[in-house]
Amino acid sequence: MPIDFKNLDFSLLAQDSDVSSFRCSEYFDLEDFIKSNAKRYQEDRIAITYLVHYENHLIGFFSLAMGCITAASVKDMNRNVHYDEKKYPALLLARKATHEDYRRMGIGSHMLKYVFATVFRLCPFVGCRFIKVNAIKNDGTLNFYKTYGGFREITESADTVEMVVDLNEVDVPDRSF
Ligand SMILES: CC(C)(COP(=O)(O)OP(=O)(O)OC[C@H]1O[C@@H](n2cnc3c(N)ncnc32)[C@H](O)[C@@H]1OP(=O)(O)O)[C@@H](O)C(=O)NCCC(=O)NCCS
Repeated sequence: MPIDFKNLDFSLLAQDSDVSSFRCSEYFDLEDFIKSNAKRYQEDRIAITYLVHYENHLIGFFSLAMGCITAASVKDMNRNVHYDEKKYPALLLARKATHEDYRRMGIGSHMLKYVFATVFRLCPFVGCRFIKVNAIKNDGTLNFYKTYGGFREITESADTVEMVVDLNEVDVPDRSF
């Protein structure tokens, strides 16, 4: 079933949002987050969650928060970032998942476009040079962020890879959501 992207509906999580249908069984912590913790995180201003509906089905979500990256981790990445700072501001893409029945249909890349549109709306008001994600360490996810977001791998831990994209190296999106 091809998705008509014009009919994707992005909205902010609300206290009365019904998220019970969301499935991400192979990374259950993401399913558990949206069902058990996202509303509390939002209320406490730890992370703001965006829901993506298609034909009234919840097919994806992502969460955003303030973040930062160490200057050392990007020093070889872009010669234009040379300030006497130990850290640089980065929007943290804290969590993101597509419902398991809707993968490889372009939903994830559309969510990423929305994240870019959001950060570029924020940039005139708050310093923010990078987007950062602690990506789950699997080839599909890493490939997704590299190909569709221009993210680069910075550091690696047991289960995740810290990836960043420099906002001065990407085009400002023309599509507004
Ligand atoms: C990563 C994730 C969000 C991608 O969502 P999606 O809706 O499937 O993404 P898209 O359909 O827009 O995929 C775009 C492209 O990314 C790449 N990609 C996505 N998933 C992939 C996979 N499992 N293996 C290889 N490449 C993959 C492909 O190039 C794909 O294009 P194609 O289908 O034309 O080949 C989704 O797989 C997911 O929720 N995974 C589990 C949770 C997770 O890893 N979340 C990220 C947390 S950091």
